[in-house]
Amino acid sequence: MGSERENVAVVTGANKGLGFEIVKQLCGQYPGLVYLTSRDSTRGLEACEKIRKLGLKVCYHQLDVTDSDSVEIFVSYCKEKYGEIDLLINNAGVLYHKNTELSRETLVHQIEETMKVNFFSLVNFTESILPLLKNGGKIINISSSSGHLSRIPGEELRNRIKSTDSVEELIKLMNSYLVACRNGEEIEGGWGDSSYVVSKVGVNSYTFILHRRLSAKDISVTCVHPGYVQTDMTGGAGQVSAGAAAALPVRLALAARAQGYVWHDGRAVPWDGPDPRGFIDGRK
Ligand SMILES: NC(=O)c1ccc[n+]([C@@H]2O[C@H](COP(=O)([O-])OP(=O)(O)OC[C@H]3O[C@@H](n4cnc5c(N)ncnc54)[C@H](OP(=O)(O)O)[C@@H]3O)[C@@H](O)[C@H]2O)c1
Repeated sequence: MGSERENVAVVTGANKGLGFEIVKQLCGQYPGLVYLTSRDSTRGLEACEKIRKLGLKVCYHQLDVTDSDSVEIFVSYCKEKYGEIDLLINNAGVLYHKNTELSRETLVHQIEETMKVNFFSLVNFTESILPLLKNGGKIINISSSSGHLSRIPGEELRNRIKSTDSVEELIKLMNSYLVACRNGEEIEGGWGDSSYVVSKVGVNSYTFILHRRLSAKDISVTCVHPGYVQTDMTGGAGQVSAGAAAALPVRLALAARAQGYVWHDGRAVPWDGPDPRGFIDGRK
C-alpha cells in the first residue's frame, strides 16, 4: 500500500449491460481507480478490453456475489492492496421472466435464485466490504421501480417491512418470504407473485437501514431505479440504452452526496408514497 492512496470504486456484475456502462463512464470521470468485477473472468476481461480500447484505464477482479469464497478473496485483495475503498455500486442482478407453465419446484428454484443474487448476496457482500469503506464514502444500490413499497400487495406486510429497522430483522423477514413460497403461501401472505419485486423491496429497505446506520461515518447509501433499460435482462426491450441509463448512477457516484430512492429522471421519490410509475410498468 502506497502512502498516497488513490480513490477506489467497485462495481458488481459489470461485464455487460448497465454495470458495464457505469464502469465505462466512471473510467472517464471518476478521480481514482475503477474496478470492473464479474462472476466470469473471461467475460469480465473481455469487457475490460473494450474499455481499454477506448483509451481508458480500468481495473479488474473476479467477483461472484453469491460465492462466499469469491467475496472473501476480493475483500482481502482490496484490504491488502488499498486498505480502504471509496465507492461501491451494487449492480449485479437477475430477473426470470414470468412463465405460468412452470412446475412449483422450478418456480421455487427461480424465486430462491432471485432472492439469493438480488437481495441476500447484495447484503452479504456489502456487509463484508463495509469495514473497508472509507468514512465519507458512498454506496449506490441499483434497484428498480419494482423496489417501491407499493408493489407489495399486503398492507400489513408493507407496514412490517416499513417498520423493519435492522438488517437482522430484514433478513428474517425475507427468509419468511422464502418459507411462504416453499409452502405455496406467498400470495395469501401478501407478498404478491414476483420474487423480483420482493428482492428489490428488500434492497431498498436495506438501503435506508444502512444509510441510518452509517450516518455517523458520513457514508451515504442510495438506491436508484435506472428506468426501463435495453439490456439482456429486458431482452433488448426498454426505453433507454444502457449508456443513457448509466448516466444517473454515475452522476450520483460523482456528486458530493446522494441518498434516498432516486427515480430514473433524477427525482428523489418517497419509498412508501404512492406508486410513482405511469400506467404501465417501466414506461415512466
Ligand atoms: N434493464 C432494466 O430495465 C432494469 C430496470 C430496473 C433495474 N435494473 C437492474 O439493473 C441491474 C443491471 O441489470 P441489467 O439490465 O444490466 O441486466 P444484465 O444485462 O442481465 O446484467 C446483469 C449483470 O449481473 C451479473 N450477475 C448476475 N449474477 C451475478 C453474480 N452472482 N455475481 C456477479 N454478477 C452477477 C451478470 O453477469 P453474467 O453476464 O455473468 O450473467 C451481468 O453482468 C440489475 O440489478 C437489475 O435488476 C435493470
